[in-house]
Amino acid sequence: MSKINIDQAVAAHYGRSELTERILKALGAGNAGLLTLSALAQVDQLHHGGLGLTERLVQVAEIERGMHVLDAGSGIGGAARHLASVCGCTVEAIDLTPEFVNTGAELDVLVGISESISHRVGSVTELPYEHSSFDLVWSQNVTMNIADKPSMFEEALRVLRPGGVFAFTHLAGGNGEALDYPMPWAGSAETSFLETPDEIFEALKNAGFEKASNHAPGNSPPPMPLGDDPDEPVVMGNAMLVQGRNAKNAVIDGRLVPMMVTARRSA
Ligand SMILES: C[S@@+](CC[C@H](N)C(=O)[O-])C[C@H]1O[C@@H](n2cnc3c(N)ncnc32)[C@H](O)[C@@H]1O
Repeated sequence: MSKINIDQAVAAHYGRSELTERILKALGAGNAGLLTLSALAQVDQLHHGGLGLTERLVQVAEIERGMHVLDAGSGIGGAARHLASVCGCTVEAIDLTPEFVNTGAELDVLVGISESISHRVGSVTELPYEHSSFDLVWSQNVTMNIADKPSMFEEALRVLRPGGVFAFTHLAGGNGEALDYPMPWAGSAETSFLETPDEIFEALKNAGFEKASNHAPGNSPPPMPLGDDPDEPVVMGNAMLVQGRNAKNAVIDGRLVPMMVTARRSA
């Protein structure tokens, strides 16, 4: 598949119509005044481990108040809102899926945090930002959709200030046995690019990163974003029930290896 076709297929995999309305309805917040950040966190963390994984990545990424952060592949902005509201950061959020970008911006307004976060549509492999713009580049479960990891990692390095940190979570390939699709990030292997942990570290080194390390706690099976068996996965749709189970089983039997990585641009 060409890059354009991959991008289109990835955006089609994630995009859903009337997403903001669906979320408000699912959370019983038809009156938007009832919407809170903690209620939203039940549905806006689109990665294994949910809010807990975000909190753990905050710890290992050495975040300080006032940092300027790029959320690369921001989904509907769950991590961006956490980084802004809890960690005191300003956040640029970029994502390939227009529906996610629109919903992310709408939710920011509804919870009153839009002054700290900007959203835009774009690709992590061609970032529309100046060199050395960010203290931290943050990316959760986006790399599995990226065929061109050298471009993603080189772009992350380019937009980081000297000494800045690239922090991301990834599900890497494990024992080499075939995965059962669909997975949460892809309906088929055509838009799934996992590499092994060693290959991920090699790509980071080739892009110019230093001090790359993996903080993932063993091979514990990843819970699904809404808990183990959500009744209605509002953002990803009912397909998520099968997707999540396929991912969980693959972690349990070693076909997938969860990674939580930090790497640094030299000072
Ligand atoms: C599993 S979701 C994770 C979203 C968010 N990081 C989170 O954890 O809540 C993967 C996201 O990566 C985005 N994505 C995939 N390929 C991308 C690319 N080339 N550039 C920007 N975003 C991309 C998708 O649109 C989707 O929102």
